[in-house]
Amino acid sequence: MRKLMKVLDGETFDIPPIWLMRQAGRYLPEYRETRKQAGGFLDLCYNPDLAVEVTLQPIRRFGFDASILFSDILVIPHALGRNLDFREGEGPVLDPITIEEINALNSDGFLDHLSPVFETVGRLREELPSETTLIGFCGAPWTVATYMIAGRGTPDQAPARLFAHQHPEIFQNLINILVEASTKYLIKQLKSGADCVQIFDSWAGILGGDQFERWCVEPMAKIVENVRSEIPDAKIIGFPKGAGAQNFGYREKTGIDCLGLDWSVPLDQAKKLQEEGAIQGLLDPLRVIAGGKALDEGVDQIMEHLTDGPLVFNLGHGITPQAPIEHVEQLISRVRGG
Ligand code: CP3
Repeated sequence: MRKLMKVLDGETFDIPPIWLMRQAGRYLPEYRETRKQAGGFLDLCYNPDLAVEVTLQPIRRFGFDASILFSDILVIPHALGRNLDFREGEGPVLDPITIEEINALNSDGFLDHLSPVFETVGRLREELPSETTLIGFCGAPWTVATYMIAGRGTPDQAPARLFAHQHPEIFQNLINILVEASTKYLIKQLKSGADCVQIFDSWAGILGGDQFERWCVEPMAKIVENVRSEIPDAKIIGFPKGAGAQNFGYREKTGIDCLGLDWSVPLDQAKKLQEEGAIQGLLDPLRVIAGGKALDEGVDQIMEHLTDGPLVFNLGHGITPQAPIEHVEQLISRVRGG
């Protein structure tokens, strides 16, 4: 079995498997080159030749233990018929969805739109080294919904939070559609060759109390249950970024195999969370920009606290475009003891 998959099963290694969120991206010159050829970012996501190429780039260069499918969490709203544009320096832009449009949404035929993604997954599994885990992914319903409502990323996604308070039933309908679409999407990725999947709830940390339970925990639990009803041994990583104290109990309530942790989680709390099963993440991505002692110390602290239990070494969020390649090399050799 591939090393990362063993960790998801609860195994412990002195040298943990390592990959980085957003490892295919703008910090790599070869990515920037392919991106230029592709034209738009979505053209890259929907072109299997180019998507396979950029997924493999960081594996060739760094030999990570896992590879993550190159795509984006917003291909689901796109496949549901929403306009989507990625603008230079601005991030994703969608048409903010109205109540009438939510009521008219349905997921019929949306998998056809995503067929290039499944082709990419299948080809990746054939082309990757056999020891490299292939991770599929989607966004969690809450995080995807925040972009659909606001039309973009805002400092605290207030438009979606307000909408959920003002129109809880309509918002629930939107979440239900996203649960159903995400389930189908993940099942198809797993059947096409993904070894496991990660569900990114990048905006989980802005909710608390009943709102966190209803919009983050429950939809995540439903997706996990639905995927496992079709693929009983499906392995799932959940990443409720910024969840803080709400990380406690999250694994149990949702049924995920591995809990992703951001850099704000104290290492003693991470250790407690690891007693319940595998964890992933924690290193502040800005330490990779800083390099030097800041990077070595960050790596060492995680290794000292957490290699007695199941750990997937990763950053606490995506690698930034400013990260120098040499610092990524430094990080990997520090983890692997080179
Ligand atoms: O190696 C990988 O991880 C590649 C696959 C990947 C991308 N996006 C490619 C991408 C994954 C797993 C994502 C997830 C994603 N996308 C998330 C969840 C993780 C997170 O970062 O919180 C979110 C919230 C999105 C939505 C999104 N896509 C935003 C907010 C942005 C703009 C910010 C930015 O980094 O530019 C994107 C664009 C995006 N997605 C890029 C890449 C490589 C950069 C676009 C470009 O090349 O011009």
